[in-house]
Amino acid sequence: MYSLKLLGALVLLISVPQTFAVKSHDFKTCSQAGFCRRGRALASRAKEASSWASPYSIDLSTIEIAHDSAKFTAQVKSSLYPDVKFGLDVRLHTDGVVRVRMDEIDALKKHYDEAASWALISEPKVSKSMKWSVGKTEFRAKFGEGQEFEIVVQFNPLKIVLLKGSKEQIVLNGQGLLHMEHFRPKKVEAEGEQKPEGMEDAQTVMKVKPNAWFEGEDEDAYWEETFGSWTDSKPKGPESLSIDISFPNHANIYGIPQHATRLSLPSTTGESPHFEDPYRLYNTDVFEYIASSPMSLYGSIPILHAHSADSTVGIFHAVGSETWIDVSHATDKSTETHWISESGILDIFLMPGPTPADVFAQYARLTGTPVLPAHWALGYHQCRWNYISSDDVRTVQKRFDEEGMPVDVFWLDIEYSQDHKYFIWEPKNFPDPVDMINDVAATGRHMVVIVDPHLKRVNEYPVYKEASERGVLVKPKSGEGEYEGWCWSGSSSWIDFFNPGAWDWWKSLFKPYQLASGGWSWTQSTEAVHIWNDMNEPSVFNGPEISMPRDNVHYNGWEHRDIHNINGMLFSNATYQALLERSDPPQRPFVLTRSFFAGSQRFGAMWTGDNLGTWEHMEVGVKMVLANGIAGMSFGGSDVGGFFGNPEPEMLVRWYQVGAMAPFFRAHAHIDTKRREPYLLDQPYKDIVRDILRLRYTMLPVWYTAFRETTVTGLPVLRPHYVTFPEDKNGFDLDDQYYIGSSGLLVKPVSEKGATEASVYLAEDQVYYDYFSHQVYRGSAKGKNVTVPAALHQLPLFIRGGSIVSTRERPRRASTLMKRDPFTLRVALDKKGSARGELYIDDGETYSHRNGEFIWRQFFADKRKKELRISSKDLAALRPSDAVDGVALKTFNPANEFAKSVSGVRVERIVVVGLGSKPKSVKVEGGQTLEWEYTPGAASNDKKDGAAGILIIKDPATPIANNWEISVQF
Ligand code: NOJ
Repeated sequence: MYSLKLLGALVLLISVPQTFAVKSHDFKTCSQAGFCRRGRALASRAKEASSWASPYSIDLSTIEIAHDSAKFTAQVKSSLYPDVKFGLDVRLHTDGVVRVRMDEIDALKKHYDEAASWALISEPKVSKSMKWSVGKTEFRAKFGEGQEFEIVVQFNPLKIVLLKGSKEQIVLNGQGLLHMEHFRPKKVEAEGEQKPEGMEDAQTVMKVKPNAWFEGEDEDAYWEETFGSWTDSKPKGPESLSIDISFPNHANIYGIPQHATRLSLPSTTGESPHFEDPYRLYNTDVFEYIASSPMSLYGSIPILHAHSADSTVGIFHAVGSETWIDVSHATDKSTETHWISESGILDIFLMPGPTPADVFAQYARLTGTPVLPAHWALGYHQCRWNYISSDDVRTVQKRFDEEGMPVDVFWLDIEYSQDHKYFIWEPKNFPDPVDMINDVAATGRHMVVIVDPHLKRVNEYPVYKEASERGVLVKPKSGEGEYEGWCWSGSSSWIDFFNPGAWDWWKSLFKPYQLASGGWSWTQSTEAVHIWNDMNEPSVFNGPEISMPRDNVHYNGWEHRDIHNINGMLFSNATYQALLERSDPPQRPFVLTRSFFAGSQRFGAMWTGDNLGTWEHMEVGVKMVLANGIAGMSFGGSDVGGFFGNPEPEMLVRWYQVGAMAPFFRAHAHIDTKRREPYLLDQPYKDIVRDILRLRYTMLPVWYTAFRETTVTGLPVLRPHYVTFPEDKNGFDLDDQYYIGSSGLLVKPVSEKGATEASVYLAEDQVYYDYFSHQVYRGSAKGKNVTVPAALHQLPLFIRGGSIVSTRERPRRASTLMKRDPFTLRVALDKKGSARGELYIDDGETYSHRNGEFIWRQFFADKRKKELRISSKDLAALRPSDAVDGVALKTFNPANEFAKSVSGVRVERIVVVGLGSKPKSVKVEGGQTLEWEYTPGAASNDKKDGAAGILIIKDPATPIANNWEISVQF
């Protein structure tokens, strides 16, 4: 029974406007943020000046070159302030990444310098073999296998250039916009620097303030700043840092999520910019965000790729404060960017590539790869705000089962908790939480329950009380007491995860048993419960820009401004560690986070937040998930259906198609929306969605194998065209179609109302097959658009010729029931008649795969004149230097316990696609003759289109864990 009283109270609490409209006035534009204004003003002064030179240079007398490694340090001075010094540290890592760090020396205060320590997995190794050569005007060092890269550090003005051959790849401070505002005493402001009245022209101003040509004539928002009704007290004064980073030979840039925009980032400055404001990185809870905007959203990852047909390079700036990035596509061959951050130090990693795959690997070595998710987490997740009682949950589960719709996870949003005191079940509607969880777990399903970071400030809430007693809450600007703000739970405080004292205590809360210490723990839960961390930007309803005041104080006295973008990651990290430690042996945790930073990929999944039920949002959601993948955060998805609004059935169906082809597949809906679980749809929509859900489940082996790969290489699970075809210029702007891992599956989600067909770009001279109808489409070496059917029940999904795709085709209620299911192999022959594919499986729940408990197969097919051979080999044996989830395979034992446990699992069907002639016989090597069926059609190497010739080998019964070979004779 739904509680009407509860619903009534909720409707009062949340008022959703009838029309969708972002409240732009809640969020700053660049011109409303003092430091961004200053940064942009500096750039326009530079542009207008006939001559412009950066005032920063290296003090030659201070250079120190390490004897034993490729590192040097030097002092940097600024001609503006002779007494101020900066320390520069430039080092070459063993893999060719160049790190450039600059901080103020002997500063009056300390610039925040810990962003990298949260983002990086370890201190990168500095090369011992590369050496700097010292010239009169610069340092140079060559590196790379063929010494093809060179890094040049010019002394005066300071400029850093990464070259490949003779081509400039990345240039730092080439336009002279580097500026690190030093700490200064406030009184300076009063000392005769004000512009006398009537003195307007630049020359006069320069006489009054000699540094005006560079810093501007007035001290714009140095010491205090207001926005709306909020005043930021800025106790440390100005401390922003900015730098121009150019890519003279790269026209496309990708990354710096999270923004609702195209994957190839449009310009924000220069001639007729696409957006007026720079891309903003400042984690914020933007209500009803716009589907095309540079506004910041919930997460920030300051990494980008710059790409051309010649090379790909990357930039990662480990900075945790608000950052604005201007982008100018100055010419059709180059891109200029300008990074403006509120505080922190300069800590830039130059990733030399030269391929997209290299940049992914270089970034992964810095910040880690995505964690291998639990297998069930790749299934379908059913969420809504809110399933309002334990009986509601049971009913929803029952309805899915009755309708034969697979689902793995049921979610509970904030209304499960009493007065939004997370962990504490609302007793009237959830009187039997553990029974409810067990009912869900009976079919191997899981629950995900929300735990937000705001704690209701009442002493009867043990979590708040313990946090308060331990002194681990964020402090207000005075540095004393507890910061108090407003969120779902009313008057609330926030845990400060920068405080090490918060971590062990937080971990202890998730123990589903009584603690020996007598402290509070979540005894009313089980190990089948996983966690959703929301509102961790943090969202504060009555705070500036719906977040925390920047002058709030964290552990060690750091201001909130310094760590704002890192804050959300610490919350999901701590939760991840908590789930990891709650069971022995540990089970893989699932944690969904809304806010994220560089490194968040190590702790779980993200989603694109409160999207709208519009076609535009459906479309941009795909691009946003792609952009997150560029930044290492592969495990992502958008709310299926759109969070706000009531999608018409057509839109909902399309949204299910989009979701089923995303790494994270969850339907979610706002509390004011009508119920829209897929079983509520009328026909034919219901059947279509059932098919989509089942399709997702059949493809779980593909998703899981793609995830294994990303845990090792950092390559994204969803691969945009420039990643798969780095040299094909036609694909550089493509962001509405993508490949799933290395599987060879190409997806073109449809997000257009009334569509009956779609245009798909094929980048190569290769044959592609419609996944369902096996219709043949042929690409061309120059690239080619083909028109494909895309009526509502048709998801444009293709197999690239040359791929072997493994699926499990038995409809099941949940993924956990598929563990012993047989496999189907789809062998899609390429133009030459061969194909290759991979399959990775393990127990999907524990960490035993790290001890070699898994199987990893390579399937191979090769057609000669008289024979087609299809084989399965142990890939771990073929590639002993590879790894799984970060663990090398050297110790891999093909006869491991997991492999034994699936020894009875067989291949039940092989579908060979693109076979032009009818076989004579099919048999397993050293074994029996097999049954088969052949449907004539086009061969992979034909010129003609139409349906492909198909051979179905029936029940070869070849064990999935073993080596085998099948011979098809003609
Ligand atoms: C905001 C989240 O983005 C949304 O998904 C959730 O339903 C609400 N908070 C309530 O928890």
